[in-house]
Amino acid sequence: MTRLIVVSNRVAMPRDRAARAGGLAVGVLSALKRSGGMWFGWSGETSESPAPQPKVVKSGGITYATIDFTADEFDAYYNGYCNSTLWPLLHYRLGLVEHSRQNQDAYMRINARFADHLATLVRPGDVIWIHDYQLMALPGELRLRGLRNRIGFFLHIPLPGPEIFCALPAHKQLMGSLAEADLVGFQTESDLRAFRDYALYEAGGSQRPDGAIEMFGRRLRAGVFPIGIDVEEMKALAVEAENDEEVRRLADSISSRQLIIGVDRLDYSKGILNRIDAVGELLTTRPDYRNRITFVQIAAPSRIDVARYKKLRREIEGCAGRVNGKHAEIDWVPIRYLNRVFPRRQLAGFYRVARVGLVTPLRDGMNLVAKEYVAAQNPSDPGVLVLSRFAGAARDMKGAIIVNPFDQVEMAEALDQALRMPLPERQERWRKLMGALQRNDLATWSDSFLDTLNTSERAAA
Ligand code: G6P
Repeated sequence: MTRLIVVSNRVAMPRDRAARAGGLAVGVLSALKRSGGMWFGWSGETSESPAPQPKVVKSGGITYATIDFTADEFDAYYNGYCNSTLWPLLHYRLGLVEHSRQNQDAYMRINARFADHLATLVRPGDVIWIHDYQLMALPGELRLRGLRNRIGFFLHIPLPGPEIFCALPAHKQLMGSLAEADLVGFQTESDLRAFRDYALYEAGGSQRPDGAIEMFGRRLRAGVFPIGIDVEEMKALAVEAENDEEVRRLADSISSRQLIIGVDRLDYSKGILNRIDAVGELLTTRPDYRNRITFVQIAAPSRIDVARYKKLRREIEGCAGRVNGKHAEIDWVPIRYLNRVFPRRQLAGFYRVARVGLVTPLRDGMNLVAKEYVAAQNPSDPGVLVLSRFAGAARDMKGAIIVNPFDQVEMAEALDQALRMPLPERQERWRKLMGALQRNDLATWSDSFLDTLNTSERAAA
């Protein structure tokens, strides 16, 4: 069996896994285990003088190889180019993009360093699977070092069309690098369309009758592989969590009220401000909900050194404070805002207790919280998912109430509809949603990506 090498910026090391690991980790782990593979990436640490060789650890039949960055590299590559340039741009937020040549150079240098290390670790015949926007320059860098292995690249976040993407000064370098992969995978049709449009209208490339794309003198496959979750794992976690102390505390404190829950990384792409305003709108237009609902918003700290994330944190605090100040009663507040991380198991329990899962990103590659919320429900009394049309997950989650997160009134109406929904309709919608989750779970995602990669024809155009 060919050995699989997974490359991603973050590596879910065995020690971190119990509490935090979710989607990607579980998905690639089983594929890695089967092939006795290797996971390569950043250690999550900075150090003054990073070791010249990766740190290698073996565990459960998998080899983990990680490298450190210096604090300056972390700042320019991760805080800078990855999360102040690429992240906003790929989420359609041109107005938030910050760009500097220095950060761009740092990004290219780190991608080149990944390639240097990989070139010493990879054997002929290994299949390389690169993940996400932090490593878009890596396929090209690997080819520059003479690697002829099969290379797959999967973008977990959205790709905007060339009208937006070309605002990036390095657009050609990054797309030229992706063209060096054998297979490039996206979450949705719209992301794939954006890629194809770039190839056809910006790079002067073409599409062959078999769907392969030709650009920059290369021929590659591109496809849609929507990521799923391990449904059984989430179900089991949620059942187990019924006895969890924190989950009981939450349920007791809600008492006979209805719980609405939002769980996100604290990120402007998640639409947290719009969501809080929608809860305010609901309470303004339908005051009978006072004291009858509680909205719990968990926002896990994320990218805390990036200026825009610091600003968002203050904005959320202000927004939640305003809505609470306006609507709270002496013995009730509508919004409980928690700016911290909870273990997955507790989150699963919180989902199960919540009557409404409110998942309203302004733009999101897929959004696994939407899927986890559904999998965690109690089949005999399931909650309702209110989901943004701009989450990749909206494509096949037809049992949700789909909303436009920019429309406060529509969101308030959706909340009202969800809170009043009779049991038979909740059950019917939930069954539909579960069917979709089960048809396209995490194993389907990684198997179908790797099968397509392993059978893709490899040739220069
Ligand atoms: C998104 C990205 C991932 C990233 C994760 C957490 O899901 O697609 O690549 O790892 O956010 O962000 P962080 O910056 O903490 O890695």
